[in-house]
Amino acid sequence: MAHFTKATSIHDWLNQRLAIDKVNKVLATEYWIPKNINFLWAMGMILAVTFGLLLISGIFLLMYYKPDTKLAFDSVNYTIMSQVGYGWLWRHVHAVAASVIFLIIYIHMFTAIYYGSYKKGREMIWISGMLLFVTFSAEAFSGYMLPWGQMSYWAGTVITDIFSLGSLHLTGLVEWIRGGFVPGDAYLTRFFMLHVVLLPLVIMALIVFHFATLRLPHVNNQDGEEIDFKEESEKYLSGDTKHAKVIRFQFDFLSKDIVVLGFFLTFFFYLVFFHFEFAMDPVNFDPANGLKTPTHIYPEWYFLWTYEILRPFPKNPGLLAFGFAQAIFIFLPFLDRSPNVAPASRRGAFKVWFWLLLITMIVLTIMGKLPPEGVYKTYGPIPASIFILLWLALPIVTKFEKPIGGK
Ligand code: HEM
Repeated sequence: MAHFTKATSIHDWLNQRLAIDKVNKVLATEYWIPKNINFLWAMGMILAVTFGLLLISGIFLLMYYKPDTKLAFDSVNYTIMSQVGYGWLWRHVHAVAASVIFLIIYIHMFTAIYYGSYKKGREMIWISGMLLFVTFSAEAFSGYMLPWGQMSYWAGTVITDIFSLGSLHLTGLVEWIRGGFVPGDAYLTRFFMLHVVLLPLVIMALIVFHFATLRLPHVNNQDGEEIDFKEESEKYLSGDTKHAKVIRFQFDFLSKDIVVLGFFLTFFFYLVFFHFEFAMDPVNFDPANGLKTPTHIYPEWYFLWTYEILRPFPKNPGLLAFGFAQAIFIFLPFLDRSPNVAPASRRGAFKVWFWLLLITMIVLTIMGKLPPEGVYKTYGPIPASIFILLWLALPIVTKFEKPIGGK
């Protein structure tokens, strides 16, 4: 056993048993961050805080929510919204956080794509991030079922129908997932379990894993410069903080993060108090009715781009395109053949590829909300096809990229 001495303080007592000084050093005061980064590197912290807000507000909602098809709608729209003190506030916080977290995830992802933060040594950061994205998508979908409104019911029906896999007609699989022929009690309770227990646990484990993947490669920087963290941190510790290319996480970098977080929370609570309706679909304020299909079924804004890749094609090709769009992002580190770790602005054809991808996804998102008629019918498949072609072209575009700075 280790040698223990009489403790001189509570801190010393804990330190002898838990090595808290060492842990704090490794995780915070000597966790090195490049100086050369901008506010976009605060998105990870904002995501962690927003997830915290979702957990806390979710726990409050859980006290009054009833996972029963006969009671769910009223427990949300009547009990929580008007009977429970500040129930409306927790619901608005939860709904707005669920929507805004996707906005921040997309900014975080596109920042990584723009600066090449998924390359050489950082592949696992990207892969763990994509696993988080997929799990968050499942978490959002399962949560959307819970108020048991018209959109919950019908969007749930459409999405679970995908598992029949087109002409394969795997209806048995769809029924197995639903726990019945149509969404009912068994369906609601299993999505409730996924939403409040299993998926949040997986997300928490994945966040820890995502942080662990950052440990060895460290975060990238605005120029994609390969920093020798050992040498630069020694410079910092020897007192030459001016010339060192790194800063401590705590409190140097953290203080910058907190400023960005302050701006974010101001925007967030502005939405919560004055524009919460953007995160709630009006159709979902009608109780679920399996006999009355809404004229136009669509998912939440953050899924519109993938929905718009499924919808414009005939059934089987549509499913293949949808599957492709779901899976392709995770392979990015291996599809980008260029060794350059640099901002897209300095990477020639990749710069065009990056902006085209972003614009195509915005166009797909806008089109996904349009009813499937008129102009839409003619032009629908175009952006979806561009999205697929862009990904197929990526290995070729990057293969011929000129090396930057002798890389
Ligand atoms: C709740 C979800 C997430 C949390 C809490 C989170 C957290 C973080 C944090 C704290 C950082 C370091 C600071 C920063 O660059 O912002 C980071 C970096 C990173 N994250 Fe995430 N992240 C999440 C989701 C994602 C997703 C969906 C992706 C996309 C694949 C992703 C990919 C990355 C990459 C590539 C980096 C490295 C950035 C660099 O080296 O410059 N993350 N993440």
